[in-house]
Amino acid sequence: MSVTTRPSTRPLRVLVTGGAGFIGSHTCVELIEAGHEVVVVDDLSAGHELALDRVREITGTRPVLERVDITDTRALEAVFALHPVDAVIHFAARKAVGESTEIPLTYFETNVGGTAILLAAARRAGVHRIVFSSSCSIFGSTGAADLDESAPAAPANPYAWSKLTCEQMIEQSCRYHDEQRAVSLRYFNPIGAHPSGLLGEDPHGTPRNIVPYLAQVAVGRRERLQIFGGDYPTPDGSAIRDYVHVVDIARGHVAALDHVDDRPGMQLFNLGTGQGTSVLELRAAFAAAAERDIPYVVTDRRPGDVPRLVADISAVRRAWSWKPEYDLATMCRDTWRFQEAHPEGYGR
Ligand SMILES: NC(=O)c1ccc[n+]([C@@H]2O[C@H](COP(=O)([O-])OP(=O)(O)OC[C@H]3O[C@@H](n4cnc5c(N)ncnc54)[C@H](O)[C@@H]3O)[C@@H](O)[C@H]2O)c1
Repeated sequence: MSVTTRPSTRPLRVLVTGGAGFIGSHTCVELIEAGHEVVVVDDLSAGHELALDRVREITGTRPVLERVDITDTRALEAVFALHPVDAVIHFAARKAVGESTEIPLTYFETNVGGTAILLAAARRAGVHRIVFSSSCSIFGSTGAADLDESAPAAPANPYAWSKLTCEQMIEQSCRYHDEQRAVSLRYFNPIGAHPSGLLGEDPHGTPRNIVPYLAQVAVGRRERLQIFGGDYPTPDGSAIRDYVHVVDIARGHVAALDHVDDRPGMQLFNLGTGQGTSVLELRAAFAAAAERDIPYVVTDRRPGDVPRLVADISAVRRAWSWKPEYDLATMCRDTWRFQEAHPEGYGR
C-alpha cells in the first residue's frame, strides 16, 4: 500500500514533543511528507530513538532529537532558543488510565505541569500556535450515543482529568492572549502501524493498551489476552471503543497545522471513525489478520474504564474535510506487519 500526504500549502518548522512515541513518530512521517520541518523533544521515557531512524528510512529525513523532559523549564527554553519554530505539536505525556489511578500526582506533574511549562516557554519564545493531544477519555461514561464535541466532559480517572485540565489551560491562554492559536484533538483509540512495517507501537514494559498486548500474544511473547470486564451493558459484554488508524490520526495533525490560523481561540475536534468495535470483536479481527488463534481470559473491570466511547466526527469532516481512510482490518493487518517483523520490539 502506498501512503501519501498532501503537501502543505505553508511549510512550517514544528516542534513535536513526544515525537519518538507511537503517535508522535507517525506524525513526524506525515509532517515531513507534507513538507514541514520537524524538531523532536522527547525524554525517551516511553519513546524510542530508533523510531526516528525509521522516520528517516520512510521519508529520507531524520528529525532532530532534543532529549529533554518537558517539565524542565530551562532545558525547554534552550531548545526554543536553538530552534526557532513556527508551531508546537504536544504529544508528550503519561497516558495509562490504570496507572493514573495508582500515581495520580505524577500524572498531574507531567501532563498538567509539563503542558503549563511548555505553553509558557513557547510564549516567551514567540511561538503562538499549539496543537494538543487530547483524549476521548475526558467524556467518561456518557451512555450509548455517539459523542460530538459538545458532549459534557466527565473525566473518570486522573489521566482523563489531566487531559481536560490541559485543554482548559490552553483555552484560557487563548482567551487572554489574542495571538494564541490552538487546536485540541480528542483522539479516540489510535491503533495500527505505518504500512511500511517500519514504525509501530512498542511500549516499554507490559503493554497497558489492548492492541500492543494483543499483538504480543499473537507473536507468542505473552500467554493470553486479558479482557477487562465482560459484564458491561454492551451486546457481548465487553467494552466498545472507536479504533482509528494511527496514520489517519497523524494526518489529522497535518490538517490541524493547515487550519490552526483559521480563527482565534481554541478549535476542538474529535478524531475517530464513528464506528464502535467491542474488545471481543477486535480480538477476532486481529486473529484473522494474524491468521492465528489468540487465547484470552475475561477478568474484572479496570478502575476508571467506561462501557462505550464512540465519536461523532461530523464536525472535523465539515471544517477540514478530514476523514479516516483505513478500516479495522487494515489497522489489524498493519499492526501485525510491524509486530511480526519486530517480535521483541524496536532494536531488541
Ligand atoms: N495511544 C492512545 O490510545 C491515545 C489516545 C488518546 C490520546 N493519546 C495522547 O496522545 C499522546 C501520545 O500518545 P502515544 O500513544 O504516542 O504515547 P507514547 O507513550 O508512545 O508517546 C509519548 C511520548 O512522550 C514522551 N514523554 C513522556 N513524558 C515526557 C516528558 N516528561 N518529557 C518529554 N517527553 C516525554 C515519551 O518518551 C514518548 O515518546 C499522549 O499525549 C496521549 O495522552 C493517546
